[in-house]
Amino acid sequence: MTAGKELHEYPMQRGCPYHPPTEYNELSEEAPLSRVRLYDGRIAWLVTQHKETRAMFADAKLFSSDHDNPAFPILAEREKNFPEFTQELFGLDGELHQKRRRMLLPRFTLKQVERLRPMIQAVADELIDDLLRHGGPVDMVTVLGRPLPSRVICKMLGISYEEHELFEVHAQGIMQAADLDQAVKAGRELLDYLVQVVDAKQQDLADDLLSTLITTQLNTGGLTSIEVSKLMVALLIGGQETTTSMIGLGTLTLLEHPDQLALIRENPELLPGAVEELMRYLSIADLTTLRVATTDVEVAGQTIKKGDGVILSTAAANRDTRAFDQPDDFDIRRSSQGHLAFGHGPHRCLGENLARAELEILFSTLFKRIPTLRLAVPLDQVSMKVGMTLEGLHDLPVTW
Ligand code: HEM
Repeated sequence: MTAGKELHEYPMQRGCPYHPPTEYNELSEEAPLSRVRLYDGRIAWLVTQHKETRAMFADAKLFSSDHDNPAFPILAEREKNFPEFTQELFGLDGELHQKRRRMLLPRFTLKQVERLRPMIQAVADELIDDLLRHGGPVDMVTVLGRPLPSRVICKMLGISYEEHELFEVHAQGIMQAADLDQAVKAGRELLDYLVQVVDAKQQDLADDLLSTLITTQLNTGGLTSIEVSKLMVALLIGGQETTTSMIGLGTLTLLEHPDQLALIRENPELLPGAVEELMRYLSIADLTTLRVATTDVEVAGQTIKKGDGVILSTAAANRDTRAFDQPDDFDIRRSSQGHLAFGHGPHRCLGENLARAELEILFSTLFKRIPTLRLAVPLDQVSMKVGMTLEGLHDLPVTW
């Protein structure tokens, strides 16, 4: 930290829905690590260069995800009780974390996700039928962005889609609540409800994720039904709002870059690269990758003390000129390889293959079936989420 310099408050705000706050660039040009002030007055380290961010993600022994540690940094009051709902995966370290992760991993491999593509395609087709029936202008976030991931995750888990509103509302309630009370209420209601779902599922076992958890864990004493429910909450939280955000912001980014959209239309084989570039460019989970130092450690000439909070900014790393050429350009033909939008290391996104499949299928189907899709309002009237855990849009009015 430069002596006498005012510390930045963190989080900083995005001025444009798809660009990180301008301060990231300024800080990154100065040094890989800067000190920032959090909402509760605590000071934490903000890491803005790709090399250091990647290395710190990888070192879970030095940089812990333990949400129960009172020194763990949080960015808003509503995140205070997250441990209650997220410690089953996001908030665990070491062997226990790996054990839980291994319980879910087999269902999220590339091979398993490939098997889900026909189901995801059917869901996307049905929702786009609804969109066309509704007619424009229509809010894409409501009609496509929210229901697609929740239908897909319900099918994967093997739980009834009748309950989708409950999941969507509660996942959103936990991530986007105005205050702590609302977030806790949403989390408790969801957890209570899921415990009942787990009970009912005992009588209805099938080839799905929840049945696997019941037969291999619950019925063998490996997990309690609360723990199974908490794992489901982790999947709902991890997979719902993130994908909703990517659908809204991704569509907006493609519509605002017609040359890139035209390239995808002419060369559908560019789509996987385009999705990867959207992930890098948008880095929607920028505010979620927090750690606490477990010991004094030196990084890039700075001494991080045991108990210091650390913010691994995926958005800053993904716009680092040392890692990507012209990083502020949205260029679907570049290699976005090595981007950190899904994190890195032991906590790397469990659902990355699923997210890619959902986004590839949705964008290819949407722009094929509705080639004249366009924004129904000027860009400056699209309502961005501000002060929330994930970057995203409240709504995206489109027409055709
Ligand atoms: C659509 C875009 C998505 C983005 C940008 C995203 C981003 C991330 C990031 C950055 C992490 C690492 C957190 C950390 O290191 O602290 C993570 C972890 C995780 N994600 Fe995703 N995610 C996405 C989609 C999904 C989906 C579709 C699912 C599953 C249904 C999912 C489930 C999870 C889970 C369970 C973890 C915790 C893994 C662990 O702690 O071992 N995510 N995600």
